[in-house]
Amino acid sequence: MSRIPIMGDDLPSTMLEMLGHDFELHPWNASPENPALAVVQGLITYGHPRVDGPLLDRCPNVKVVSNHGVGVDHIDVPACTARNVVVGNTPGVLDASTADMTIALLLALARNVVVGDTFARGPNFTHYDPSNMIGTEVTGATLGIIGLGRIGRQVARRAHGFDMRVLYHGRTRQLAAEQTLNVEYVSLDALLSRSDFITLNCPLTPETKHLISTTELTKMKPSAMLINMARGGVVDQDALYTALSTRVIAGAALDVTDPEPLPREHRLLTLPNLIITPHLGSASDRTRNRMQEMTVENLRSGLRHEPLPYGVK
Ligand code: DGY
Repeated sequence: MSRIPIMGDDLPSTMLEMLGHDFELHPWNASPENPALAVVQGLITYGHPRVDGPLLDRCPNVKVVSNHGVGVDHIDVPACTARNVVVGNTPGVLDASTADMTIALLLALARNVVVGDTFARGPNFTHYDPSNMIGTEVTGATLGIIGLGRIGRQVARRAHGFDMRVLYHGRTRQLAAEQTLNVEYVSLDALLSRSDFITLNCPLTPETKHLISTTELTKMKPSAMLINMARGGVVDQDALYTALSTRVIAGAALDVTDPEPLPREHRLLTLPNLIITPHLGSASDRTRNRMQEMTVENLRSGLRHEPLPYGVK
Protein backbone atom coordinates (compact mmCIF):
# COMPACT_ATOMS: atom_id res chain seq x y z
CA MET A 1 0.00 0.00 0.00
CA SER A 2 1.38 3.43 -0.87
CA ARG A 3 2.23 5.74 1.98
CA ILE A 4 0.30 8.97 2.48
CA PRO A 5 2.45 12.09 1.98
CA ILE A 6 2.33 14.52 4.88
CA MET A 7 4.47 17.49 5.92
CA GLY A 8 5.62 17.99 9.51
CA ASP A 9 7.62 20.49 11.45
CA ASP A 10 10.43 18.97 13.51
CA LEU A 11 8.48 15.94 14.77
CA PRO A 12 9.72 14.18 17.91
CA SER A 13 10.90 10.59 17.45
CA THR A 14 8.08 9.27 19.65
CA MET A 15 5.53 10.82 17.29
CA LEU A 16 7.32 9.31 14.32
CA GLU A 17 6.89 5.92 15.99
CA MET A 18 3.16 6.57 16.44
CA LEU A 19 2.86 7.49 12.77
CA GLY A 20 4.45 4.16 11.86
CA HIS A 21 4.93 3.23 8.23
CA ASP A 22 1.65 4.62 6.90
CA PHE A 23 3.08 8.01 6.00
CA GLU A 24 5.73 9.56 3.83
CA LEU A 25 6.92 12.47 5.94
CA HIS A 26 8.26 15.57 4.21
CA PRO A 27 10.16 18.11 6.33
CA TRP A 28 8.44 21.45 6.74
CA ASN A 29 9.24 23.71 3.81
CA ALA A 30 6.62 26.27 2.81
CA SER A 31 8.60 27.60 -0.13
CA PRO A 32 6.59 27.66 -3.40
CA GLU A 33 9.52 25.78 -4.96
CA ASN A 34 8.96 22.76 -2.69
CA PRO A 35 7.45 20.05 -4.96
CA ALA A 36 6.11 18.16 -1.90
CA LEU A 37 3.47 20.86 -1.37
CA ALA A 38 1.58 19.67 -4.43
CA VAL A 39 1.15 16.16 -3.02
CA VAL A 40 0.94 16.35 0.79
CA GLN A 41 -2.46 15.45 2.26
CA GLY A 42 -1.87 16.39 5.90
CA LEU A 43 0.11 19.00 7.81
CA ILE A 44 1.40 18.49 11.33
CA THR A 45 2.33 21.76 12.97
CA TYR A 46 4.28 22.19 16.12
CA GLY A 47 3.53 25.72 17.21
CA HIS A 48 5.21 28.05 14.81
CA PRO A 49 5.21 27.76 11.04
CA ARG A 50 2.32 29.81 9.82
CA VAL A 51 -0.48 27.99 8.03
CA ASP A 52 -2.40 30.52 5.97
CA GLY A 53 -4.35 30.85 2.73
CA PRO A 54 -1.30 31.26 0.46
CA LEU A 55 0.32 28.12 1.92
CA LEU A 56 -2.92 26.14 1.63
CA ASP A 57 -3.26 27.26 -1.98
CA ARG A 58 0.10 25.66 -2.65
CA CYS A 59 -1.15 22.43 -1.01
CA PRO A 60 -4.31 21.58 -3.01
CA ASN A 61 -4.46 18.02 -1.60
CA VAL A 62 -4.31 18.87 2.09
CA LYS A 63 -7.34 17.61 4.03
CA VAL A 64 -6.24 18.18 7.62
CA VAL A 65 -3.97 20.42 9.70
CA SER A 66 -3.14 18.68 12.97
CA ASN A 67 -1.58 20.93 15.58
CA HIS A 68 0.57 19.52 18.34
CA GLY A 69 -0.63 21.93 21.03
CA VAL A 70 -3.74 23.84 21.95
CA GLY A 71 -2.86 27.36 20.71
CA VAL A 72 -3.74 27.84 17.05
CA ASP A 73 -2.78 31.51 16.65
CA HIS A 74 -0.36 30.45 13.90
CA ILE A 75 -3.14 28.80 11.87
CA ASP A 76 -5.64 30.79 9.83
CA VAL A 77 -8.63 28.59 10.72
CA PRO A 78 -11.17 30.47 8.52
CA ALA A 79 -8.78 30.07 5.56
CA CYS A 80 -8.67 26.32 6.28
CA THR A 81 -12.45 26.06 6.61
CA ALA A 82 -12.92 27.96 3.34
CA ARG A 83 -10.83 25.28 1.64
CA ASN A 84 -12.53 22.31 3.37
CA VAL A 85 -9.41 21.65 5.41
CA VAL A 86 -10.17 20.55 8.97
CA VAL A 87 -8.02 21.69 11.89
CA GLY A 88 -7.28 19.73 15.06
CA ASN A 89 -5.45 20.57 18.28
CA THR A 90 -4.83 19.07 21.72
CA PRO A 91 -7.04 20.83 24.28
CA GLY A 92 -7.41 19.84 27.91
CA VAL A 93 -4.45 17.56 28.37
CA LEU A 94 -1.81 20.22 28.93
CA ASP A 95 -3.57 22.42 31.45
CA ALA A 96 -2.02 20.91 34.58
CA SER A 97 1.45 20.72 33.11
CA THR A 98 1.34 24.35 31.90
CA ALA A 99 -0.02 25.52 35.25
CA ASP A 100 2.81 23.64 37.01
CA MET A 101 5.33 25.48 34.85
CA THR A 102 3.63 28.81 35.55
CA ILE A 103 4.10 28.23 39.26
CA ALA A 104 7.65 26.95 38.71
CA LEU A 105 8.61 30.21 37.01
CA LEU A 106 6.79 32.29 39.61
CA LEU A 107 8.72 30.59 42.41
CA ALA A 108 11.99 30.72 40.50
CA LEU A 109 11.59 34.47 39.98
CA ALA A 110 10.44 35.21 43.51
CA ARG A 111 13.17 33.16 45.18
CA ASN A 112 16.14 33.83 42.88
CA VAL A 113 16.45 30.19 41.83
CA VAL A 114 18.23 30.85 38.55
CA VAL A 115 20.59 33.63 39.66
CA GLY A 116 21.14 31.69 42.89
CA ASP A 117 22.18 28.60 40.95
CA THR A 118 24.70 30.60 38.92
CA PHE A 119 26.04 32.29 42.05
CA ALA A 120 26.33 29.04 44.00
CA ARG A 121 28.47 27.52 41.24
CA GLY A 122 30.76 30.56 40.94
CA PRO A 123 33.88 31.74 42.77
CA ASN A 124 32.05 34.45 44.75
CA PHE A 125 30.14 31.97 46.92
CA THR A 126 32.68 31.76 49.70
CA HIS A 127 30.43 31.77 52.75
CA TYR A 128 26.74 31.74 53.67
CA ASP A 129 25.51 35.33 53.81
CA PRO A 130 22.05 35.72 55.35
CA SER A 131 21.53 39.05 53.62
CA ASN A 132 22.25 37.70 50.14
CA MET A 133 19.52 37.26 47.50
CA ILE A 134 16.52 38.01 49.65
CA GLY A 135 13.50 37.09 47.56
CA THR A 136 9.84 37.98 47.62
CA GLU A 137 7.50 36.01 49.88
CA VAL A 138 5.08 34.02 47.74
CA THR A 139 2.90 32.76 50.55
CA GLY A 140 0.09 35.22 51.09
CA ALA A 141 0.99 37.39 48.07
CA THR A 142 -1.54 38.55 45.48
CA LEU A 143 -1.59 36.80 42.12
CA GLY A 144 -3.25 38.32 39.07
CA ILE A 145 -4.18 35.85 36.34
CA ILE A 146 -4.88 37.24 32.89
CA GLY A 147 -6.96 34.63 31.11
CA LEU A 148 -8.98 32.37 33.41
CA GLY A 149 -9.37 29.57 30.89
CA ARG A 150 -8.54 25.94 31.52
CA ILE A 151 -4.88 26.69 32.28
CA GLY A 152 -5.57 29.86 34.27
CA ARG A 153 -8.03 27.96 36.47
CA GLN A 154 -5.40 25.34 37.26
CA VAL A 155 -2.97 28.15 38.15
CA ALA A 156 -5.57 29.55 40.56
CA ARG A 157 -5.96 26.16 42.25
CA ARG A 158 -2.23 25.86 42.78
CA ALA A 159 -1.94 29.46 44.02
CA HIS A 160 -4.38 28.70 46.83
CA GLY A 161 -1.89 26.09 48.03
CA PHE A 162 0.35 29.08 48.77
CA ASP A 163 -2.46 30.98 50.49
CA MET A 164 -2.37 33.56 47.69
CA ARG A 165 -5.16 36.02 47.04
CA VAL A 166 -6.15 35.43 43.42
CA LEU A 167 -7.43 38.15 41.08
CA TYR A 168 -8.30 37.54 37.46
CA HIS A 169 -9.12 39.47 34.33
CA GLY A 170 -10.33 38.18 31.01
CA ARG A 171 -12.80 38.64 28.20
CA THR A 172 -15.66 37.23 30.21
CA ARG A 173 -16.47 37.22 33.87
CA GLN A 174 -16.81 33.69 35.22
CA LEU A 175 -19.25 33.70 38.08
CA ALA A 176 -19.20 29.92 38.62
CA ALA A 177 -15.40 29.84 38.74
CA GLU A 178 -15.40 32.74 41.18
CA GLN A 179 -17.35 30.57 43.63
CA THR A 180 -15.50 27.30 43.12
CA LEU A 181 -12.00 28.76 42.86
CA ASN A 182 -12.30 31.70 45.23
CA VAL A 183 -11.02 34.19 42.66
CA GLU A 184 -11.96 37.85 42.27
CA TYR A 185 -12.78 39.43 38.92
CA VAL A 186 -11.17 42.86 38.53
CA SER A 187 -10.52 45.33 35.74
CA LEU A 188 -7.16 45.09 33.99
CA ASP A 189 -6.01 48.29 35.71
CA ALA A 190 -6.92 46.96 39.15
CA LEU A 191 -5.18 43.67 38.44
CA LEU A 192 -2.03 45.50 37.32
CA SER A 193 -1.89 47.78 40.34
CA ARG A 194 -2.84 45.23 43.02
CA SER A 195 -0.88 42.12 42.02
CA ASP A 196 2.50 41.03 43.32
CA PHE A 197 2.74 38.45 40.53
CA ILE A 198 0.95 38.53 37.19
CA THR A 199 0.66 35.47 34.98
CA LEU A 200 -0.42 35.59 31.36
CA ASN A 201 -2.45 32.48 30.52
CA CYS A 202 -4.58 33.84 27.67
CA PRO A 203 -4.52 32.98 23.97
CA LEU A 204 -2.89 35.35 21.47
CA THR A 205 -5.68 37.10 19.57
CA PRO A 206 -5.98 40.53 17.94
CA GLU A 207 -7.35 41.72 21.32
CA THR A 208 -4.44 40.36 23.38
CA LYS A 209 -1.63 41.36 21.01
CA HIS A 210 0.70 43.61 23.07
CA LEU A 211 -1.83 43.59 25.90
CA ILE A 212 1.12 44.30 28.19
CA SER A 213 2.99 47.36 26.98
CA THR A 214 4.47 50.51 28.53
CA THR A 215 1.18 51.81 29.94
CA GLU A 216 0.38 48.52 31.62
CA LEU A 217 3.90 47.91 32.93
CA THR A 218 3.90 51.37 34.47
CA LYS A 219 0.73 50.52 36.38
CA MET A 220 2.36 47.50 38.02
CA LYS A 221 4.02 47.67 41.44
CA PRO A 222 7.80 48.27 41.27
CA SER A 223 8.15 45.01 43.21
CA ALA A 224 5.87 43.05 40.86
CA MET A 225 6.87 40.20 38.59
CA LEU A 226 5.38 39.13 35.27
CA ILE A 227 5.21 35.56 33.94
CA ASN A 228 4.30 35.01 30.29
CA MET A 229 3.04 31.48 29.59
CA ALA A 230 0.76 32.58 26.74
CA ARG A 231 2.46 33.68 23.52
CA GLY A 232 5.31 36.11 23.00
CA GLY A 233 3.07 38.53 21.13
CA VAL A 234 0.96 39.22 24.24
CA VAL A 235 3.85 41.27 25.64
CA ASP A 236 5.46 44.27 23.94
CA GLN A 237 9.02 43.07 24.42
CA ASP A 238 10.64 46.47 23.80
CA ALA A 239 8.49 47.93 26.56
CA LEU A 240 9.35 44.97 28.78
CA TYR A 241 13.07 45.50 28.21
CA THR A 242 12.77 49.14 29.27
CA ALA A 243 10.64 48.27 32.30
CA LEU A 244 13.06 45.58 33.50
CA SER A 245 16.25 47.52 32.84
CA THR A 246 14.95 50.65 34.59
CA ARG A 247 13.31 48.62 37.39
CA VAL A 248 9.80 49.82 36.63
CA ILE A 249 8.99 46.21 37.60
CA ALA A 250 11.21 43.82 39.52
CA GLY A 251 11.36 40.82 37.24
CA ALA A 252 9.83 38.73 34.50
CA ALA A 253 9.84 35.17 33.26
CA LEU A 254 9.13 34.35 29.65
CA ASP A 255 8.35 30.82 28.55
CA VAL A 256 7.38 32.22 25.14
CA THR A 257 8.82 35.01 23.03
CA ASP A 258 8.25 36.73 19.72
CA PRO A 259 10.06 35.57 17.69
CA GLU A 260 10.86 32.21 19.20
CA PRO A 261 13.69 31.78 19.83
CA LEU A 262 14.85 35.36 20.22
CA PRO A 263 17.91 36.26 18.12
CA ARG A 264 20.94 35.30 20.22
CA GLU A 265 22.04 38.94 20.44
CA HIS A 266 18.62 40.17 21.65
CA ARG A 267 18.99 42.65 24.49
CA LEU A 268 16.36 40.91 26.67
CA LEU A 269 18.83 38.03 27.01
CA THR A 270 21.28 40.31 28.83
CA LEU A 271 18.98 41.10 31.75
CA PRO A 272 19.66 39.49 35.14
CA ASN A 273 16.08 40.05 36.32
CA LEU A 274 14.63 38.00 33.46
CA ILE A 275 14.23 34.23 33.37
CA ILE A 276 13.69 32.71 29.98
CA THR A 277 12.74 29.11 29.16
CA PRO A 278 12.31 27.51 25.72
CA HIS A 279 8.50 27.10 25.57
CA LEU A 280 8.34 24.35 28.19
CA GLY A 281 4.75 24.93 29.34
CA SER A 282 3.45 21.54 28.31
CA ALA A 283 6.82 19.79 28.31
CA SER A 284 6.26 17.02 30.82
CA ASP A 285 6.51 13.37 29.84
CA ARG A 286 2.89 12.25 30.29
CA THR A 287 1.43 15.43 28.81
CA ARG A 288 3.64 15.52 25.73
CA ASN A 289 2.96 11.84 25.08
CA ARG A 290 -0.81 12.41 25.17
CA MET A 291 -0.47 15.50 22.94
CA GLN A 292 1.37 13.41 20.39
CA GLU A 293 -1.30 10.70 20.48
CA MET A 294 -4.04 13.28 19.98
CA THR A 295 -2.15 14.91 17.11
CA VAL A 296 -1.84 11.56 15.33
CA GLU A 297 -5.49 10.66 16.05
CA ASN A 298 -6.61 13.96 14.53
CA LEU A 299 -4.39 13.45 11.50
CA ARG A 300 -5.65 9.94 10.81
CA SER A 301 -9.30 10.96 11.23
CA GLY A 302 -8.94 13.98 8.96
CA LEU A 303 -7.31 11.91 6.25
CA ARG A 304 -10.23 9.44 6.43
CA HIS A 305 -12.73 12.34 6.20
CA GLU A 306 -14.02 11.39 9.65
CA PRO A 307 -14.88 13.99 12.32
CA LEU A 308 -11.77 14.94 14.28
CA PRO A 309 -11.78 13.73 17.89
CA TYR A 310 -10.29 17.08 18.92
CA GLY A 311 -11.36 19.51 16.24
CA VAL A 312 -10.99 23.29 16.27
CA LYS A 313 -14.33 24.96 15.64
C1 DGY B 1 0.19 25.03 23.26
O1 DGY B 1 -0.37 23.96 23.39
O2 DGY B 1 -0.29 25.96 22.63
C2 DGY B 1 1.53 25.13 23.89
O3 DGY B 1 2.01 26.42 23.89
C3 DGY B 1 2.49 24.19 23.21
O4 DGY B 1 2.70 24.65 21.91
